[in-house]
Amino acid sequence: MIGLATIGTSMITGRLIDAVAAVDGIEVTTVFSRDRARGERYAREHGIAHVADDLAALLGSPAVDAVYLASPNGAHCAQARAALAAGRHVLVEKPAVATAAEWDGIVELARARGVVLLEAMRNVYDPGFEALRALLRRIGTPRRASLGYSQRSARYDRVLAGEHVNIFDPALAGGAAYDLGVYCIAAMVELFGAPERVLGASVALATGADGAGAALAVYPGLVVDLSYSKITASDRWNEVQGERGTLAFDHVARPRAARVTLLDGTTTAHDLPGAQNNLVYEVERFVALVNGADAAADHARTRETLRVVEAVKAAPAL
Ligand SMILES: NC(=O)c1ccc[n+]([C@@H]2O[C@H](COP(=O)([O-])OP(=O)(O)OC[C@H]3O[C@@H](n4cnc5c(N)ncnc54)[C@H](OP(=O)(O)O)[C@@H]3O)[C@@H](O)[C@H]2O)c1
Repeated sequence: MIGLATIGTSMITGRLIDAVAAVDGIEVTTVFSRDRARGERYAREHGIAHVADDLAALLGSPAVDAVYLASPNGAHCAQARAALAAGRHVLVEKPAVATAAEWDGIVELARARGVVLLEAMRNVYDPGFEALRALLRRIGTPRRASLGYSQRSARYDRVLAGEHVNIFDPALAGGAAYDLGVYCIAAMVELFGAPERVLGASVALATGADGAGAALAVYPGLVVDLSYSKITASDRWNEVQGERGTLAFDHVARPRAARVTLLDGTTTAHDLPGAQNNLVYEVERFVALVNGADAAADHARTRETLRVVEAVKAAPAL
């Protein structure tokens, strides 16, 4: 049984705790919070036995084989390094770190310590995504794709009121590209591999973070546009256009409905499989890796995803 400690006490850690409860071979033993009282409250609410407020003590605990990092993005790298150096497996929320160079560094450390490192990119482990891959084969050679994730954050109101909000703080690797664009980019890399070139543009906020943006990823014979925002909303579907037809699907982070339209006008609708809480699948993958599966493809996808995010972020703000 893998004993897992969680780091971070926001909504997403609760969803991860629920997901772990649905997976064999792993259990959450400990909640970490920088604030002991908050940690105790959180552990009580989620039925977790142990609480820690000292990272070094947490990483020395025999109840902790692995940690799940759900702190702000800018804190991931140092916390992952500390956990890996202590010989603990690490499941780290998306984006795993801010740059491909940081990623290479922690992959190397994980290898050296003989432990697992996995980015919790929930969409690519979702069975709905696998179903999309099968449907893609019906539409012929893909030539254009359009992937998007735009969801106005309730926390944007706090930014407008002049408050500091982690997810809109560039010093903590906040902003739309790191937070939501990364789902589109990971999906693109998983479906089509690494692009040859990336062009991007973003809308800058007063905080210095990007509030929204768009990018073009160029492959030999294929162009993908990406669209993402934390300050506006969209209910537009995603689309892949092939030479024999078009595949449309509802959500890039949790695909549950798809439509295939062939050139002769035939349209078929498809319900895609998958649980409501799709963090279950990344937890299953993590357990498989701890039990000896090969993480090379997972690591390569995260690396290429971060390279694209970096290229997008290097593009000038509007
Ligand atoms: N997979 C998904 O669907 C999904 C959804 C949402 C978020 N996420 C990811 O989860 C991570 C957390 O996002 P969030 O929006 O929940 O973050 P957040 O609310 O800003 O912070 C999460 C937790 O980290 C701790 N924390 C806050 N500021 C910190 C700092 N400066 N240094 C170290 N720890 C700090 C806090 O816990 P304590 O004060 O108790 O220590 C807090 O509860 C991000 O990587 C995000 O991308 C993933």
